[in-house]
Amino acid sequence: GLKKKEVNVLCLGLDNSGKTTIINQLKPTNTQTKDIVPTIGFNIEKFKSSSLSFTVFDMSGQSRYRNLWEHYYKECHAIIFVIDSGDKLRMVVAKEELDTLLNHQDIRSRRLPVLFFANKSDLRESLSSVKVSQLLCLENIKDKPWHICKSHFLINDATNHSVAFHFTHRA
Ligand code: GTP
Ligand code: MG
Repeated sequence: GLKKKEVNVLCLGLDNSGKTTIINQLKPTNTQTKDIVPTIGFNIEKFKSSSLSFTVFDMSGQSRYRNLWEHYYKECHAIIFVIDSGDKLRMVVAKEELDTLLNHQDIRSRRLPVLFFANKSDLRESLSSVKVSQLLCLENIKDKPWHICKSHFLINDATNHSVAFHFTHRA
């Protein structure tokens, strides 16, 4: 058969934002896990869509592991950046990490698609995706296609589609 196009996706964001939970939801039901624990270092997940073969690097967001992120920038084709939209106190930290990422030499000059999840939208205190977008100054990102959507751990089809949409457009 036809060989599927290989896509490396880097999943980034602060600890506790929900990266592993989201990736778990994107996997086929029979390979999903029930108990999600804080990621140590990183995990690699592989799964396929109709035309693409994804390798997702699910990085730990803990500050002591964030220095691992940059080692995977060169080989990544797309980024998922997850924000806990209920964590107002650390929104500035999320912005700092995002800015560091976007200014990195292996990221800066590339038209990598970036998908932002304003996650935990189920929390009553959560900020809207528009507000998260403003606080992170996403409108300043001019050289990359990006999109933000709200999400929560019972991720819906619409969210799934927007992931597929962004990656297919690059392929
Ligand atoms: P690190 O691996 O430490 O970087 O964290 P992570 O970003 O992978 O977060 P993880 O997926 O481990 O989720 C952290 C906690 O948030 C877990 O207790 C999840 O159940 C919870 N969580 C994840 N997504 C949501 C969500 O959409 N809503 C709510 N309320 N809780 C969520
Ligand atoms: Mg994790």
